Amino acid sequence: MGYKEVYEAWQADPEAFWMQAADAIDWDRKPSKALFADNAPLYEWFVDGMVNTCWNAVDRHVATRGDQAAIIYDSPVTDTKATITYAELQDKVARLAGALQARGVTKGDRVIVYMPMVPEALIAMLAVTRIGAIHSVVFGGFASNELAVRIDDAQPKAILSASCGIEPGRVVAYKPLLDGAIEMAAHKPDFTLILQRPQAEAALQDGRDFDWREAVAAADPAPCVPVEGNHPAYILYTSGTTGQPKGVVRPTGGHLVALNWTMKNIYDMEPGEVFWAASDVGWVVGHSYICYAPLIHGNTTIVFEGKPVGTPDAGTFWRVISEHNVKSFFTAPTAFRAIKREDPKGEFLKPYDISCLKYLFLAGERADPDTIHWAHDLLQIPVIDHWWQTETGYTIAGNPVGIELLPVKIGSPTVPMPGHEIHILDDEGVELPDGELGAIAVKLPLPPGTLPGLWNAEERFRKSYLSKFPGYYETGDAGMKDEDGYVWIMARTDDVINVAGHRLSTGGMEEVLAAHPDVAECAVIGVTDQLKGQLPMGFVCLTKGVNRPHDEIAKECVKLVREKIGPVAAFKLVAVVDRLPKTRSGKILRATMVKIADGAEFKLPATIDDPAILDEIRESVGELGYPVA
Ligand code: COA
Ligand code: AMP
Repeated sequence: MGYKEVYEAWQADPEAFWMQAADAIDWDRKPSKALFADNAPLYEWFVDGMVNTCWNAVDRHVATRGDQAAIIYDSPVTDTKATITYAELQDKVARLAGALQARGVTKGDRVIVYMPMVPEALIAMLAVTRIGAIHSVVFGGFASNELAVRIDDAQPKAILSASCGIEPGRVVAYKPLLDGAIEMAAHKPDFTLILQRPQAEAALQDGRDFDWREAVAAADPAPCVPVEGNHPAYILYTSGTTGQPKGVVRPTGGHLVALNWTMKNIYDMEPGEVFWAASDVGWVVGHSYICYAPLIHGNTTIVFEGKPVGTPDAGTFWRVISEHNVKSFFTAPTAFRAIKREDPKGEFLKPYDISCLKYLFLAGERADPDTIHWAHDLLQIPVIDHWWQTETGYTIAGNPVGIELLPVKIGSPTVPMPGHEIHILDDEGVELPDGELGAIAVKLPLPPGTLPGLWNAEERFRKSYLSKFPGYYETGDAGMKDEDGYVWIMARTDDVINVAGHRLSTGGMEEVLAAHPDVAECAVIGVTDQLKGQLPMGFVCLTKGVNRPHDEIAKECVKLVREKIGPVAAFKLVAVVDRLPKTRSGKILRATMVKIADGAEFKLPATIDDPAILDEIRESVGELGYPVA
């Protein structure tokens, strides 16, 4: 069957389609049906099945592929390589689960995981799901304050962390950040387990912090605890419009069924082959394609602790691919832009035989045509863009190479995947014709594994995703479909920006800047950047009477965002301005500011209060080096 037949088979009978996909999962009790629609427009899948995530990702493979590598750890920043087989992984995960259980963690409890890219991060996630607890992984590049917000929302019983992470040129001590977060948060975890790394050992607080290795060595292995199909496997916080992140809930049953389905159909992987997603476990790509999907499907996954460039050079990806025999490789376009900038002619590829590599998959941000062309010319394999979100956990639109390689149209992530019926709507919810730009919405119900809701925030879930277009999920992306049914993703419709494939909220940054004592008003926009896709740029107006040097205040603003949100925000551009451009009703004209900073043409908004302000904005962005020539 080709793509069209598979998509039509899903459309004709979604229930049969997903029940068949569910057969590939080991259930403790098989679900009686796939979709549960009693609470529409809130939908759930496989609710009456009983199942365990860790069993399906680890234990079930031990009999047939116990000696196969489950995880290959490759860390150029610590000069370490290690392999963990499925049998070894089972033991490690079961013991860590036992250590958690012995300290009172049980089904439904939340456990925060704040870890660098080491195999223990995956072992932690798997150990938590093994005992029916719910993990929430927080990316290491977030600062204490962001971690504290997540601690207060998820209310974890335990936190699993490491003494440090390693960024090129500096060791990031995690423990002080963790201590700071726990101090800031109103909720306190019962205990933490800290993985000591030799690059920076952490001081442990008596009675609260325990040494990870000692706790595991003393623990009895814990068995898998079956949970209901709709039991949350994890919560992953992602940026929305405000500084309060959204806790995306991932349901156990649908997650297993859908991710397993994607490995063959979207990534063309057979069990036993090596899959590599060069991302971080702190992001959804890391959850789905470093940890869960490859393991559920019996593949080998790679945990890479390094960067595309500088660890030690722009050939590091090619070394990893050739050394570990990677068949399908997945990363963000920004990683390729970084390599291209360092090594435009691909000299660093020459020493390596990467004939094992069959596909390059890109996602996380718009894949710009230059990058796709460059990657394709260099690698001579299909370069596949695909579009998805933290909320969905896997591809909404893609090119399902395991079913059929569809003609690639550069700039489009190709076509809707089974489970997703994509519509382009105008502001009133009216369907737009092909070729016209509108809001991208997906007809409800969303398929298995996608978010059934937000953690403890049903109203916010309805308001953010379901209320604008009744009967649809509002993606927050704008774009169009063409006459061949290809989808084109053009922009976000909200305040979310995408910096080096990392999703960030300009609203959240504005909240931080507004808290500076000298700032009366501010705006943060996303400007185009050649490497990272977008960069945040802040504009602050000072409180009357403040006479301090502007560059001093700008520096404080940069420091504040780094402290409150984290280095990952990459917030380094700030201008102090007298006023912000606004409409007569007082709305800040952010879109117009973006056009000015990008040097793009724009129509003067009819509702603008005072067009003269735009000249000041133009001058300010000029001083920051924008628009880039
Ligand atoms: N812990 C602590 N700090 C971190 C961190 C982590 N896990 N990850 C990033 N940071 C820091 C970086 O050190 C950097 O700090 P600096 O301002 O002191 O230099 C800052 O956060 C910004 O990081 P980043 O945006 O990653 O920029 P970079 O210049 O270090 O690297 C790229 C640029 C393009 C090489 C890098 O972003 C990359 O590899 N991106 C791949 C994209 C990706 O994996 N996306 C995930 C979704 S698919
Ligand atoms: P995240 O939730 O971090 O995965 O970010 C999701 C957002 O990233 C989407 O809503 C898009 O705005 C953007 N995005 C992800 N993949 C693509 C893609 N292939 N093309 C264009 N934008 C993308």
